[in-house]
Amino acid sequence: MKKIKLGTSNLMVSEIGLGCMRMADKTVDEAKAVIKASLQNGINFFDHADIYGKGKSEEIFAQAIKELGIKREDIIIQSKCGIDNGTFNFSKDHILKAVDGILERLNTDYLDVLLLHRPDALVEPNEVNDAFRILHASGKVRWFGVSNQSAYQMELLQSGVDYPLIANQVQFSLKHTNLIDHGFNVNMNHESGIYRGAGIIEYARLNHQTLQAWSPFYSGYFESIFIDNDEFIELNMCLEKMAKKYDVSKEAIAVAWILRHPAQIQVLVGSMTPSRINKIAKAGTFKLSHNEWYELYKAAGNKLP
Ligand SMILES: NC(=O)c1ccc[n+]([C@@H]2O[C@H](COP(=O)([O-])OP(=O)(O)OC[C@H]3O[C@@H](n4cnc5c(N)ncnc54)[C@H](OP(=O)(O)O)[C@@H]3O)[C@@H](O)[C@H]2O)c1
Repeated sequence: MKKIKLGTSNLMVSEIGLGCMRMADKTVDEAKAVIKASLQNGINFFDHADIYGKGKSEEIFAQAIKELGIKREDIIIQSKCGIDNGTFNFSKDHILKAVDGILERLNTDYLDVLLLHRPDALVEPNEVNDAFRILHASGKVRWFGVSNQSAYQMELLQSGVDYPLIANQVQFSLKHTNLIDHGFNVNMNHESGIYRGAGIIEYARLNHQTLQAWSPFYSGYFESIFIDNDEFIELNMCLEKMAKKYDVSKEAIAVAWILRHPAQIQVLVGSMTPSRINKIAKAGTFKLSHNEWYELYKAAGNKLP
């Protein structure tokens, strides 16, 4: 598995990471199996959030890591905070308290990366900086980033924060392409020209930040998985054709489509099924051509001007 540098940090992370949002519903043995499959495929990066299963995902992960005898320094752990009972809270007190909870549940002294989960309209960048300074000085958090933020939101936050924001975790898949649609339709009247994810990719590239794609197999906001889904026949035919050509699964093609983007996007997959992780991990063993990338984009129902 190829490793990429996470933003401007010194962390070398696997280009595919395991998202642990769905671990809360699993037994420790099931979690051990999916973590083991991940490691065997070269995945060294695990994404969490304090809200996943109300903290249960982090607890199960910690127990699984302990029982597997995995050394802390051999894996890279990221978690997120800032969602507070259905609203968003980037206050210093909230961040500090949230991180203490995360570390306790994960049974670790430090997070490699902390992300702020969803933008808080009441954000005070200097206050966030106070929290980050305490977390960094105490060794509790090594690197910081955000999730679901626009370029300007990142720019505002970075203006008051002394630490580089190394990552932005955003939804991106063949059936959720807001990050790129606008770029093909600048100054045009149709739907795809509407500003949604515009500027996020360009901002990340200009500032050497890593984008992390969440829900790489979902259409819409947790609406449906597009793989083998009759709603998306043309896309599945195209995935199938390329899967045959490269001798991999459709899942691997869908992930390879994200990896093909020159922004070096890290893909966070959420499957808790070891056999799926094995299939998905093959995404990095080949490179889609320029034409194939566009063919898939169009097969997903997107129109180019
Ligand atoms: N920052 C944010 O706001 C945010 C939001 C959502 C998620 N995330 C992160 O992104 C990670 C991934 O999100 P996700 O779990 O929604 O992503 P995903 O990888 O697109 O979806 C995984 C889910 O799809 C199911 N699935 C069904 N058919 C599948 C197939 N053919 N191939 C692959 N999966 C299939 C999996 O089931 P099985 O387990 O049975 O394989 C699993 O429940 C999360 O764990 C979390 O770390 C972040």
